[in-house]
Amino acid sequence: MSSLAAVTKAEAALLVPTYERNRVLFREGRGCYLFDDEGRRYLDFLSGIGVNALGYDHPAIRKVLREQGAKLIHISNLFYHRYQAELARKLTKISGLDRAFFCNSGTEAVEGALKLARAYARHRNQNGSKARWRVLAMEKSFHGRTFGALAATSTVKYRAPFGPLMPGVRFVHSGDVRDLERKFDSSVCAILLEPVQGEGGINPLGREFLQRARQLTADSGAVLIADEIQCGLGRTGRWFAYQHMGITPDIVTVAKPLAAGLPLGAILTTNAVAAAIHPGLHGTTFGGGPLTCAVALAVIQTIEDEGLLKHVREAGAYMQKQLGTLKQRHRIIREVRGVGVMVAVELTSGDAAKFAVAECLKRGLIINRTHEVVLRLLPPFIIENKHVDVLGATLDAVLTEWERQHDSSKEDTRNGRA
Ligand SMILES: Cc1ncc(COP(=O)(O)O)c(C=O)c1O
Repeated sequence: MSSLAAVTKAEAALLVPTYERNRVLFREGRGCYLFDDEGRRYLDFLSGIGVNALGYDHPAIRKVLREQGAKLIHISNLFYHRYQAELARKLTKISGLDRAFFCNSGTEAVEGALKLARAYARHRNQNGSKARWRVLAMEKSFHGRTFGALAATSTVKYRAPFGPLMPGVRFVHSGDVRDLERKFDSSVCAILLEPVQGEGGINPLGREFLQRARQLTADSGAVLIADEIQCGLGRTGRWFAYQHMGITPDIVTVAKPLAAGLPLGAILTTNAVAAAIHPGLHGTTFGGGPLTCAVALAVIQTIEDEGLLKHVREAGAYMQKQLGTLKQRHRIIREVRGVGVMVAVELTSGDAAKFAVAECLKRGLIINRTHEVVLRLLPPFIIENKHVDVLGATLDAVLTEWERQHDSSKEDTRNGRA
């Protein structure tokens, strides 16, 4: 079973219908490119939704997969292997936090972070008075699909069919300091936010907002949780997006690019918060195995060795410049924004955004649409200016085509032909 037609037919009959996939059957990837079953090449400006930071088939990852894969893949968390502590040392150093817990995915990291916040509130409150338990999350947030993370995810279509969700979450207007102050009170155990919102349309929450969230939580003994699953580990040109804003949270969640596409997430936290946990309170069978941790060490080492944080800042600036030029040519572009290589091209129409994603794919360029009207660009960190030029030229052609069809359909309506 190897043709696109055979695979789509089999999946339609056999899989739970969670996805509307694009009709492409990928076989392999190299650098910033993917290749389909007919050998057609695609430039990837999505990188597996922000996962493949080093692109495809990076020699450092290939090496560790071959060597560690041949030695030891999994042993459970009942025994030691050398890589969890090595990876925790690296992650705590780059984040400014003290300790790590390893899990398997983004949503699981958020789930654990929420549990940690509640456990910490109880731990601080041993005199028996009522512990804080509520969570403030943001509008336009996305934290995952499991019940706790979903309860803190604002988008109604993701939540509605599954209620009742975890109680105690209240949403704040993203970036609105006054609303945050109004909703924060002594019942709140955590503020949970993405410093740059991803699924919500690439929205940086802003320095003032983050600093106020930091201050409110620090003053009252609640925790600040930064979900850096999409914006963290270098995508914004610093290791963590909160580092642009001059704060350090109490808890940070990471996942996507951590292990180059193998499932690995992490919760990073302080000694003070970690003191609320003792053996048996939280755990996982797979999380933090020797293969995933060894690969993650290679990912971080490669980002350092290849100077990719600086490169991301430069590539991101070039993307913004080229896309800014494009904005001047197309009225359909409402705004270009982003940090590093986490960039949004917001259009004035959801239909146009849908058209643009499909047309780009036909022309061998992978991009994605989020929040209806936003073209989301999350390329591998190794992207070069020549790739950005292809992005610019392809988007230019696609938006010109949309405008041509759109204007001529207006023309047809005026002439009574539609
Ligand atoms: C900010 C953020 N948090 C959490 C998640 C959930 O991660 P996962 O899909 O690995 O469960 C995502 C996924 O897109 C995300 O962008």
